[in-house]
Amino acid sequence: MRCDVFTLFPQAFDWYLSQVHIQAATRLGHEFQLANYRDHTPLTHLQVDDTPYGGGAGMVLRIDVVCAALEAVFGGDATKLRRSRRVVELTPKGRQLDDALAEDLAKGDLVLLCGRYEGIDERVTELVSDRVSIGPYVLSGGEIAAMAVLDAVTRKLPGAVSNPASVVSESHASELAGGTEYPQYTRPAEFRGWTVPEVLLSGHHAEIDRWRARQVGKG
Ligand code: ADE
Repeated sequence: MRCDVFTLFPQAFDWYLSQVHIQAATRLGHEFQLANYRDHTPLTHLQVDDTPYGGGAGMVLRIDVVCAALEAVFGGDATKLRRSRRVVELTPKGRQLDDALAEDLAKGDLVLLCGRYEGIDERVTELVSDRVSIGPYVLSGGEIAAMAVLDAVTRKLPGAVSNPASVVSESHASELAGGTEYPQYTRPAEFRGWTVPEVLLSGHHAEIDRWRARQVGKG
């Protein structure tokens, strides 16, 4: 998978992209690229946004700037990009991210478009294949949402997470039929009187499996 993130704040991704599973995915041949809209703006004074038509608060990321950035990175016509890869706008108006969508997005190349301020000019719909939200609340920009999408998607790439079983049994994976994962405990077995369920200390794997199966979905 190749994933290109378009943002006004590429430095916001520095920590995230240095994480082990991203590094592991990179070693497997997956590619993560950042592009700053401002580096490709056709406007003077590095302008990227403008006031909204009709008035109102804030600034809107310009569609000509978004197109210019996409065309600088990929060449060709930005409206055709969605034919070869998923082009995703991060927006609170989008379809809510879930495990199935993460799995689907992991199947091919990906472009993530982060908005800022009041978001991207609505004509971005001419460019995107998907509009994705990470929840019913408004963030200051798409960067945190893009990292959430990237994280969920990268965990679906075979080999990116060192223990594949941990991905399968994870909360919300389809193998749990939408349920949440069973609770996890580690040492010490007792702390301040708080104990670990006896069965987990028993070494009896069949019983442990049954206990875990009963816990799934209890939240
Ligand atoms: N940008 C601002 N808020 C967002 C959200 N909830 N999801 C995705 N992108 C966003």
